[in-house]
Amino acid sequence: MLLNTDPRLDAFAGTIVDWQKRHGRHHLPWQGTRDPYKIWLSEIMLQQTQVATVIGYYERFLSRFPDIASLAAASQEDVMPYWAGLGYYARARNLHRCAQVLCRDWGGAFPESSADIATLPGIGRSTAAAIAAFAHGERSPIMDGNVKRVFTRYFGIEGVTSERVTEQLLWRTAEAALADADAALDMAAYTQGLMDLGSQRCTRSSPDCPLCPLQAHCYAHAHSRQGELPAPRKKKASPERQCKMLILASSDAILLEQRPPSGIWGGLWSLPEYEDERALATACSNWGLSPEEARKMAGLVHVFSHFRLHIEPWYLRAGAPVVAEPAPGQAWIPINELSATALPAPVKKILDGLYCLTGR
Ligand code: ADE
Repeated sequence: MLLNTDPRLDAFAGTIVDWQKRHGRHHLPWQGTRDPYKIWLSEIMLQQTQVATVIGYYERFLSRFPDIASLAAASQEDVMPYWAGLGYYARARNLHRCAQVLCRDWGGAFPESSADIATLPGIGRSTAAAIAAFAHGERSPIMDGNVKRVFTRYFGIEGVTSERVTEQLLWRTAEAALADADAALDMAAYTQGLMDLGSQRCTRSSPDCPLCPLQAHCYAHAHSRQGELPAPRKKKASPERQCKMLILASSDAILLEQRPPSGIWGGLWSLPEYEDERALATACSNWGLSPEEARKMAGLVHVFSHFRLHIEPWYLRAGAPVVAEPAPGQAWIPINELSATALPAPVKKILDGLYCLTGR
Protein backbone atom coordinates (compact mmCIF):
# COMPACT_ATOMS: atom_id res chain seq x y z
CA MET A 1 0.00 0.00 0.00
CA LEU A 2 1.35 3.39 -0.99
CA LEU A 3 0.63 6.12 1.54
CA ASN A 4 1.08 9.74 0.69
CA THR A 5 3.59 9.93 3.53
CA ASP A 6 5.81 7.44 1.63
CA PRO A 7 9.25 9.07 1.25
CA ARG A 8 9.45 7.70 -2.32
CA LEU A 9 6.58 10.01 -3.27
CA ASP A 10 8.19 13.12 -1.77
CA ALA A 11 9.81 15.14 -4.47
CA PHE A 12 9.29 12.40 -7.12
CA ALA A 13 7.58 14.71 -9.61
CA GLY A 14 9.70 17.76 -8.73
CA THR A 15 12.92 15.76 -9.21
CA ILE A 16 11.75 14.66 -12.66
CA VAL A 17 10.85 18.22 -13.67
CA ASP A 18 14.27 19.56 -12.56
CA TRP A 19 16.03 16.76 -14.40
CA GLN A 20 13.94 17.23 -17.56
CA LYS A 21 14.75 20.93 -17.66
CA ARG A 22 18.48 20.26 -17.45
CA HIS A 23 18.95 16.91 -19.17
CA GLY A 24 15.75 16.01 -21.02
CA ARG A 25 14.97 16.42 -24.72
CA HIS A 26 13.97 19.92 -25.83
CA HIS A 27 14.40 20.05 -29.58
CA LEU A 28 12.14 17.35 -30.96
CA PRO A 29 10.02 18.72 -33.82
CA TRP A 30 6.76 18.39 -31.85
CA GLN A 31 8.08 20.24 -28.81
CA GLY A 32 7.63 24.00 -28.50
CA THR A 33 4.05 23.85 -29.77
CA ARG A 34 0.79 23.91 -27.85
CA ASP A 35 -1.22 22.95 -30.92
CA PRO A 36 -3.13 19.80 -29.88
CA TYR A 37 -3.26 18.64 -33.52
CA LYS A 38 0.53 18.50 -33.82
CA ILE A 39 0.92 17.01 -30.35
CA TRP A 40 -1.71 14.37 -31.08
CA LEU A 41 -0.07 13.42 -34.39
CA SER A 42 3.33 13.02 -32.73
CA GLU A 43 1.94 10.97 -29.84
CA ILE A 44 0.12 8.58 -32.17
CA MET A 45 3.20 8.16 -34.39
CA LEU A 46 5.39 7.59 -31.32
CA GLN A 47 3.28 4.67 -30.12
CA GLN A 48 5.38 1.57 -30.83
CA THR A 49 7.80 3.60 -32.99
CA GLN A 50 11.19 5.15 -32.21
CA VAL A 51 11.70 8.93 -32.22
CA ALA A 52 14.36 8.71 -34.95
CA THR A 53 11.93 6.93 -37.30
CA VAL A 54 9.02 9.23 -36.51
CA ILE A 55 10.73 12.57 -37.25
CA GLY A 56 10.66 12.31 -41.07
CA TYR A 57 7.12 10.90 -41.15
CA TYR A 58 5.89 13.62 -38.82
CA GLU A 59 7.28 16.42 -40.96
CA ARG A 60 6.00 14.98 -44.26
CA PHE A 61 2.56 14.33 -42.77
CA LEU A 62 2.26 17.86 -41.39
CA SER A 63 3.33 19.52 -44.60
CA ARG A 64 0.61 17.61 -46.49
CA PHE A 65 -2.06 17.78 -43.73
CA PRO A 66 -1.26 20.94 -41.72
CA ASP A 67 -4.43 20.92 -39.62
CA ILE A 68 -7.50 18.93 -38.57
CA ALA A 69 -9.61 20.30 -41.44
CA SER A 70 -7.16 19.24 -44.17
CA LEU A 71 -6.87 15.74 -42.69
CA ALA A 72 -10.65 15.36 -42.34
CA ALA A 73 -11.19 16.51 -45.93
CA ALA A 74 -8.72 13.96 -47.35
CA SER A 75 -9.64 10.42 -48.31
CA GLN A 76 -8.07 7.46 -46.51
CA GLU A 77 -6.36 6.73 -49.82
CA ASP A 78 -4.64 10.14 -49.63
CA VAL A 79 -3.51 9.54 -46.06
CA MET A 80 -2.03 6.03 -46.25
CA PRO A 81 1.10 6.90 -48.31
CA TYR A 82 2.11 9.23 -45.49
CA TRP A 83 1.96 6.33 -43.03
CA ALA A 84 3.31 3.54 -45.21
CA GLY A 85 6.31 1.90 -43.50
CA LEU A 86 5.42 3.11 -39.97
CA GLY A 87 3.39 -0.06 -39.28
CA TYR A 88 0.32 -0.56 -37.09
CA TYR A 89 -1.90 0.93 -39.80
CA ALA A 90 -5.01 1.03 -37.61
CA ARG A 91 -3.34 4.10 -36.09
CA ALA A 92 -3.57 5.94 -39.42
CA ARG A 93 -7.16 4.85 -40.04
CA ASN A 94 -8.16 6.01 -36.54
CA LEU A 95 -6.27 9.28 -37.01
CA HIS A 96 -8.26 10.01 -40.13
CA ARG A 97 -11.55 8.97 -38.50
CA CYS A 98 -10.75 11.06 -35.43
CA ALA A 99 -10.20 14.20 -37.58
CA GLN A 100 -13.64 13.61 -39.11
CA VAL A 101 -15.24 13.16 -35.66
CA LEU A 102 -13.59 16.39 -34.49
CA CYS A 103 -15.08 18.25 -37.46
CA ARG A 104 -18.50 16.67 -37.05
CA ASP A 105 -18.90 16.77 -33.25
CA TRP A 106 -16.37 19.23 -31.81
CA GLY A 107 -16.41 22.21 -34.18
CA GLY A 108 -13.13 21.14 -35.84
CA ALA A 109 -10.99 21.50 -32.70
CA PHE A 110 -9.78 19.22 -29.93
CA PRO A 111 -11.73 19.26 -26.69
CA GLU A 112 -9.58 20.53 -23.79
CA SER A 113 -9.99 17.91 -21.09
CA SER A 114 -8.22 14.56 -21.25
CA ALA A 115 -11.53 12.89 -20.30
CA ASP A 116 -13.16 14.26 -23.48
CA ILE A 117 -10.05 13.60 -25.60
CA ALA A 118 -10.06 9.95 -24.47
CA THR A 119 -13.52 9.46 -26.03
CA LEU A 120 -12.07 10.03 -29.53
CA PRO A 121 -11.13 7.17 -31.91
CA GLY A 122 -7.69 5.68 -31.32
CA ILE A 123 -6.88 7.76 -28.21
CA GLY A 124 -6.43 5.94 -24.90
CA ARG A 125 -6.15 7.37 -21.40
CA SER A 126 -2.37 7.88 -21.45
CA THR A 127 -2.26 9.55 -24.87
CA ALA A 128 -5.20 11.79 -23.93
CA ALA A 129 -3.39 12.86 -20.75
CA ALA A 130 -0.17 13.57 -22.69
CA ILE A 131 -2.04 15.75 -25.21
CA ALA A 132 -3.84 17.68 -22.44
CA ALA A 133 -0.61 18.10 -20.44
CA PHE A 134 1.43 19.38 -23.41
CA ALA A 135 -1.35 21.57 -24.83
CA HIS A 136 -2.91 22.99 -21.64
CA GLY A 137 -0.85 21.81 -18.66
CA GLU A 138 -3.65 19.54 -17.41
CA ARG A 139 -2.68 17.65 -14.28
CA SER A 140 -3.36 14.05 -15.35
CA PRO A 141 -0.89 11.16 -15.25
CA ILE A 142 0.42 9.20 -18.23
CA MET A 143 1.32 5.51 -18.24
CA ASP A 144 2.95 4.26 -21.45
CA GLY A 145 5.46 1.41 -21.77
CA ASN A 146 8.51 3.51 -20.84
CA VAL A 147 6.74 5.10 -17.88
CA LYS A 148 5.60 1.69 -16.61
CA ARG A 149 9.27 0.72 -16.44
CA VAL A 150 10.16 3.79 -14.36
CA PHE A 151 7.26 3.19 -11.94
CA THR A 152 7.73 -0.58 -11.51
CA ARG A 153 11.43 -0.13 -10.76
CA TYR A 154 11.20 2.96 -8.59
CA PHE A 155 8.20 1.84 -6.50
CA GLY A 156 9.02 -1.89 -6.59
CA ILE A 157 5.80 -2.90 -8.32
CA GLU A 158 5.71 -6.63 -9.08
CA GLY A 159 3.33 -8.27 -11.54
CA VAL A 160 3.08 -8.22 -15.31
CA THR A 161 2.29 -4.66 -16.37
CA SER A 162 -0.18 -5.66 -19.08
CA GLU A 163 -2.33 -7.46 -16.50
CA ARG A 164 -5.29 -5.54 -15.18
CA VAL A 165 -4.48 -5.53 -11.45
CA THR A 166 -0.90 -4.39 -12.04
CA GLU A 167 -2.01 -1.75 -14.51
CA GLN A 168 -4.55 -0.41 -12.01
CA LEU A 169 -1.88 -0.25 -9.31
CA LEU A 170 0.40 1.64 -11.70
CA TRP A 171 -2.31 4.20 -12.46
CA ARG A 172 -3.10 4.64 -8.76
CA THR A 173 0.59 5.14 -7.99
CA ALA A 174 0.89 7.70 -10.81
CA GLU A 175 -2.15 9.54 -9.39
CA ALA A 176 -0.60 9.49 -5.90
CA ALA A 177 2.68 10.87 -7.24
CA LEU A 178 0.80 13.79 -8.78
CA ALA A 179 -1.40 14.37 -5.72
CA ASP A 180 1.77 14.70 -3.66
CA ALA A 181 3.46 17.14 -6.04
CA ASP A 182 3.74 20.91 -5.84
CA ALA A 183 0.56 22.76 -6.89
CA ALA A 184 2.57 24.70 -9.48
CA LEU A 185 4.16 21.57 -11.04
CA ASP A 186 5.10 22.14 -14.69
CA MET A 187 2.99 19.35 -16.20
CA ALA A 188 4.51 19.53 -19.68
CA ALA A 189 8.03 19.13 -18.23
CA TYR A 190 6.87 16.37 -15.85
CA THR A 191 5.17 14.42 -18.65
CA GLN A 192 8.10 14.83 -21.03
CA GLY A 193 10.53 14.06 -18.18
CA LEU A 194 8.86 10.72 -17.46
CA MET A 195 9.06 9.81 -21.15
CA ASP A 196 12.69 10.97 -21.39
CA LEU A 197 13.77 9.13 -18.23
CA GLY A 198 12.11 5.95 -19.46
CA SER A 199 13.74 6.07 -22.87
CA GLN A 200 17.12 7.66 -22.02
CA ARG A 201 18.07 6.46 -18.51
CA CYS A 202 15.72 3.74 -17.24
CA THR A 203 16.14 1.63 -20.36
CA ARG A 204 15.06 -1.99 -20.52
CA SER A 205 18.36 -3.81 -20.72
CA SER A 206 21.02 -1.32 -19.61
CA PRO A 207 19.60 1.27 -17.21
CA ASP A 208 21.99 4.13 -16.51
CA CYS A 209 21.43 4.30 -12.74
CA PRO A 210 24.46 6.49 -11.93
CA LEU A 211 22.96 9.26 -14.07
CA CYS A 212 19.36 8.78 -12.91
CA PRO A 213 17.91 11.50 -10.67
CA LEU A 214 15.66 8.93 -8.95
CA GLN A 215 18.47 6.62 -7.91
CA ALA A 216 18.52 7.55 -4.19
CA HIS A 217 15.03 6.15 -3.50
CA CYS A 218 14.71 3.62 -6.33
CA TYR A 219 13.58 0.18 -5.13
CA ALA A 220 15.11 -1.74 -8.05
CA HIS A 221 18.45 0.01 -7.63
CA ALA A 222 18.54 -0.59 -3.86
CA HIS A 223 17.77 -4.30 -4.32
CA SER A 224 19.67 -4.81 -7.61
CA ARG A 225 16.44 -5.89 -9.30
CA GLN A 226 16.64 -3.77 -12.46
CA GLY A 227 16.85 -6.98 -14.52
CA GLU A 228 13.66 -8.39 -12.96
CA LEU A 229 11.42 -5.33 -13.05
CA PRO A 230 9.15 -4.87 -14.87
CA ALA A 231 8.25 -8.55 -14.63
CA PRO A 232 8.49 -10.15 -18.08
CA ARG A 233 5.27 -11.08 -19.80
CA LYS A 234 4.71 -14.82 -20.16
CA LYS A 235 5.72 -15.27 -23.76
CA LYS A 236 3.67 -17.35 -26.14
CA ALA A 237 5.69 -18.58 -29.10
CA SER A 238 4.78 -16.46 -32.10
CA PRO A 239 3.02 -18.54 -34.79
CA GLU A 240 4.92 -18.79 -38.08
CA ARG A 241 3.12 -18.20 -41.36
CA GLN A 242 4.44 -18.25 -44.87
CA CYS A 243 3.35 -16.87 -48.23
CA LYS A 244 4.62 -16.40 -51.77
CA MET A 245 4.44 -12.94 -53.31
CA LEU A 246 4.55 -12.39 -57.04
CA ILE A 247 6.37 -9.49 -58.63
CA LEU A 248 4.78 -9.46 -62.05
CA ALA A 249 6.61 -6.89 -64.17
CA SER A 250 5.47 -5.69 -67.56
CA SER A 251 6.95 -2.75 -69.46
CA ASP A 252 7.80 -0.27 -66.72
CA ALA A 253 5.08 -1.29 -64.29
CA ILE A 254 4.34 -3.98 -61.76
CA LEU A 255 1.06 -5.47 -60.66
CA LEU A 256 -0.08 -4.53 -57.17
CA GLU A 257 -3.31 -5.15 -55.30
CA GLN A 258 -4.93 -3.04 -52.66
CA ARG A 259 -5.52 -4.71 -49.29
CA PRO A 260 -9.01 -4.57 -47.75
CA PRO A 261 -9.54 -1.38 -45.69
CA SER A 262 -9.17 -3.07 -42.29
CA GLY A 263 -6.87 -5.82 -41.02
CA ILE A 264 -3.20 -6.35 -41.80
CA TRP A 265 -1.76 -3.61 -44.03
CA GLY A 266 -5.32 -2.30 -44.41
CA GLY A 267 -5.66 0.02 -47.44
CA LEU A 268 -2.01 -0.41 -48.54
CA TRP A 269 -0.88 -1.62 -51.97
CA SER A 270 0.80 -5.01 -51.75
CA LEU A 271 2.08 -7.71 -54.08
CA PRO A 272 -0.36 -10.48 -55.02
CA GLU A 273 0.01 -13.23 -52.39
CA TYR A 274 -0.28 -17.00 -52.74
CA GLU A 275 -0.32 -19.76 -50.15
CA ASP A 276 1.94 -22.10 -52.09
CA GLU A 277 3.74 -22.60 -55.39
CA ARG A 278 0.76 -24.35 -56.96
CA ALA A 279 -1.52 -21.39 -56.38
CA LEU A 280 1.14 -19.06 -57.76
CA ALA A 281 1.62 -21.24 -60.85
CA THR A 282 -2.15 -21.36 -61.45
CA ALA A 283 -2.35 -17.57 -61.31
CA CYS A 284 0.48 -17.27 -63.84
CA SER A 285 -1.17 -19.79 -66.18
CA ASN A 286 -4.50 -17.96 -65.92
CA TRP A 287 -2.73 -14.89 -67.28
CA GLY A 288 -1.35 -16.96 -70.14
CA LEU A 289 2.15 -16.78 -68.65
CA SER A 290 4.53 -19.64 -68.16
CA PRO A 291 5.04 -20.35 -64.42
CA GLU A 292 8.41 -22.02 -65.14
CA GLU A 293 9.78 -18.62 -66.04
CA ALA A 294 9.09 -17.24 -62.55
CA ARG A 295 12.29 -16.90 -60.51
CA LYS A 296 12.44 -17.40 -56.75
CA MET A 297 14.20 -14.55 -54.93
CA ALA A 298 15.79 -14.33 -51.49
CA GLY A 299 13.08 -14.42 -48.83
CA LEU A 300 12.58 -12.36 -45.71
CA VAL A 301 10.76 -12.61 -42.39
CA HIS A 302 8.44 -9.84 -41.27
CA VAL A 303 7.60 -9.75 -37.57
CA PHE A 304 4.07 -8.69 -36.60
CA SER A 305 3.00 -8.30 -32.99
CA HIS A 306 1.19 -11.66 -33.07
CA PHE A 307 2.93 -13.75 -35.74
CA ARG A 308 5.97 -13.99 -38.00
CA LEU A 309 5.44 -13.98 -41.74
CA HIS A 310 7.99 -15.71 -43.99
CA ILE A 311 7.75 -14.07 -47.38
CA GLU A 312 9.12 -15.76 -50.49
CA PRO A 313 9.10 -13.35 -53.44
CA TRP A 314 8.92 -14.64 -57.01
CA TYR A 315 9.76 -12.52 -60.02
CA LEU A 316 8.18 -12.90 -63.44
CA ARG A 317 8.63 -10.59 -66.38
CA ALA A 318 5.71 -10.57 -68.83
CA GLY A 319 6.29 -9.54 -72.42
CA ALA A 320 5.18 -6.03 -73.36
CA PRO A 321 2.58 -4.84 -73.89
CA VAL A 322 0.85 -5.59 -70.60
CA VAL A 323 -0.69 -9.00 -70.87
CA ALA A 324 -2.92 -9.22 -67.84
CA GLU A 325 -6.10 -7.26 -67.45
CA PRO A 326 -5.98 -6.35 -63.75
CA ALA A 327 -8.71 -7.86 -61.59
CA PRO A 328 -10.80 -5.52 -59.40
CA GLY A 329 -8.54 -4.11 -56.67
CA GLN A 330 -5.41 -4.71 -58.76
CA ALA A 331 -3.53 -2.12 -60.77
CA TRP A 332 -0.38 -1.76 -62.83
CA ILE A 333 1.75 0.75 -60.96
CA PRO A 334 4.59 2.38 -62.92
CA ILE A 335 7.92 1.66 -61.27
CA ASN A 336 8.69 5.36 -61.00
CA GLU A 337 5.52 5.82 -58.92
CA LEU A 338 6.32 3.07 -56.42
CA SER A 339 8.17 5.34 -54.01
CA ALA A 340 5.01 7.49 -53.67
CA THR A 341 2.72 4.46 -53.25
CA ALA A 342 1.52 3.26 -49.83
CA LEU A 343 3.45 -0.02 -49.60
CA PRO A 344 3.83 -2.28 -46.53
CA ALA A 345 7.41 -2.14 -45.16
CA PRO A 346 8.51 -5.63 -46.33
CA VAL A 347 7.03 -5.08 -49.82
CA LYS A 348 8.88 -1.79 -50.02
CA LYS A 349 12.08 -3.58 -49.00
CA ILE A 350 11.64 -6.26 -51.68
CA LEU A 351 10.89 -3.70 -54.41
CA ASP A 352 13.68 -1.43 -53.19
CA GLY A 353 16.13 -4.32 -53.68
CA LEU A 354 14.96 -4.64 -57.29
CA TYR A 355 14.38 -1.04 -58.31
CA CYS A 356 16.32 1.15 -55.81
CA LEU A 357 13.18 3.11 -54.88
CA THR A 358 15.02 5.28 -52.36
CA GLY A 359 17.28 6.64 -55.12
CA ARG A 360 14.32 7.68 -57.33
N1 ADE B 1 7.17 8.90 -26.84
C1 ADE B 1 5.87 9.15 -26.69
N2 ADE B 1 5.65 10.47 -26.60
C2 ADE B 1 6.84 11.07 -26.73
C3 ADE B 1 7.27 12.42 -26.75
N3 ADE B 1 6.40 13.41 -26.62
N4 ADE B 1 8.58 12.67 -26.91
C4 ADE B 1 9.45 11.66 -27.03
N5 ADE B 1 9.12 10.38 -27.01
C5 ADE B 1 7.83 10.08 -26.87
